[in-house]
Amino acid sequence: MNNVNSYIKEHKLRFLNELIELLKIPSISADSAYKNDVLKTADEIKISLKKAGCDHVEICKTDGYPIVYGEKIIDKNLPTVLVYGHYDVQPPDPLDLWHSPPFEPVIKETEKHPEGAIFARGACDDKGQMYMHVKALEFMTSTNQLPCNVKFMIEGEEEVGSSNLAIFVKENQDKLKNDVILISDTGMIASDVPSITTGLRGLSYVEVEVTGPNRDLHSGLYGGAVANPINILAKMIASLHDENNHITIPGFYDKVEELSKEERADMAKTPFSLENYKKALDINAVYGEAGYTTNERNSIRPTLDVNGIWGGYTGEGAKTVIASKAYAKISMRLVPHQDWEEITQLFKTHFESIAPDGVTIKVKPHHGGQGYVTPINSIGYQAASKAYKDTFGKTPIPQRSGGSIPIVSLFEQELKSKTILMGFGLDSDAIHSPNEHFGIFNYLKGIETIPLFYKYFTELSK
Ligand code: BES
Ligand code: MN
Ligand code: MN
Repeated sequence: MNNVNSYIKEHKLRFLNELIELLKIPSISADSAYKNDVLKTADEIKISLKKAGCDHVEICKTDGYPIVYGEKIIDKNLPTVLVYGHYDVQPPDPLDLWHSPPFEPVIKETEKHPEGAIFARGACDDKGQMYMHVKALEFMTSTNQLPCNVKFMIEGEEEVGSSNLAIFVKENQDKLKNDVILISDTGMIASDVPSITTGLRGLSYVEVEVTGPNRDLHSGLYGGAVANPINILAKMIASLHDENNHITIPGFYDKVEELSKEERADMAKTPFSLENYKKALDINAVYGEAGYTTNERNSIRPTLDVNGIWGGYTGEGAKTVIASKAYAKISMRLVPHQDWEEITQLFKTHFESIAPDGVTIKVKPHHGGQGYVTPINSIGYQAASKAYKDTFGKTPIPQRSGGSIPIVSLFEQELKSKTILMGFGLDSDAIHSPNEHFGIFNYLKGIETIPLFYKYFTELSK
């Protein structure tokens, strides 16, 4: 692509400032108090897509937050790239752990980002990464280098399960027709080690409630004589893993695909330092399923984790009480072939079956989604690989990620096209955590790399 570097250099400050303005809007989809801010963010994205050169932009209403759609169709005979991203963000709490307010973006240097990083909720997940695509489009249209058609579909409910997007996709197959789906909502190995995400884990998220006596009791008068729901819940949760950290739910592993020796050997070639990993997290040892390495545990293996647990007295001082109820939120990360609804059912059946007499159990399924794997011989992967090779000087490494974007498998199922996950964030960018940030180098590298994807994808499609 001609002049991409000079274009980025010339417009760098504006590219940063526009993103900073977007990051100032607290588009927290999980918290209805921010409804107007989420809606305002959608409007801003619509305006930015128009400015970047889309011929047609619209806000598509859903039963939840709207989907921003934009397109520039230059020739019906040319391929079409569909860009997906999300404009909603995770809640920023706990607020007191942020070094600067989450919706007042600041630029600071870090060890991993010597050229500076923007600190704000959504900087990396996903406003910053989504906006790279808007700016890449601006570059291509304003320099007359857009080689194919493009469609944008930016949603506002990714962090809460994308249920309305699923309906939208099913109902708008024609409108969304494409040859490849392009997403930047994942990570890369390191700023100088480019990688392309070839897999995402699925997810089953459940909430459990354990009920004992019909009211909170004096723990002296009743303690020892009735089931304590918190004790019971803790026991039940502990029993979900065995001494090798295998999950004990019957049937849980039945459909798990075991990777071949060769595939595992390939994975092990990925640059990784266990020492640095432990140091970055201040832990003296890693922990997980026996027989698997850290990178296998967090990508090709399914997991079960408690995300929150509560009940009883948690205020100041001591209160002697046996609570009537105890609760936990539990997520299971799944690998390809495991069906999230089936796993949810297996969990429910098992959890109910291990409850002792004296308590009753409720299992409430939340959202979920299937995992995803994509081959590295597709035109889309090859185009992405060539694009990275040009801008990083290195062939990117295929890497399966532990995170989930549940809608991706639905895209393939409904729209019959492959998704290419070109992520530019780092694991250390603290997405979902306090002090989320996105490297300026990564942001600009993304804007530089994306147009090359379009170019190579169009060439390889011929
Ligand atoms: N962008 C993330 C997923 C992600 C991050 C995948 C890094 C791979 C690498 C996405 O916004 C996310 O947070 N997904 C949720 C699932 C969703 C249903 C709430 C997740 O993975 O917990
Ligand atoms: Mn995301
Ligand atoms: Mn997220």
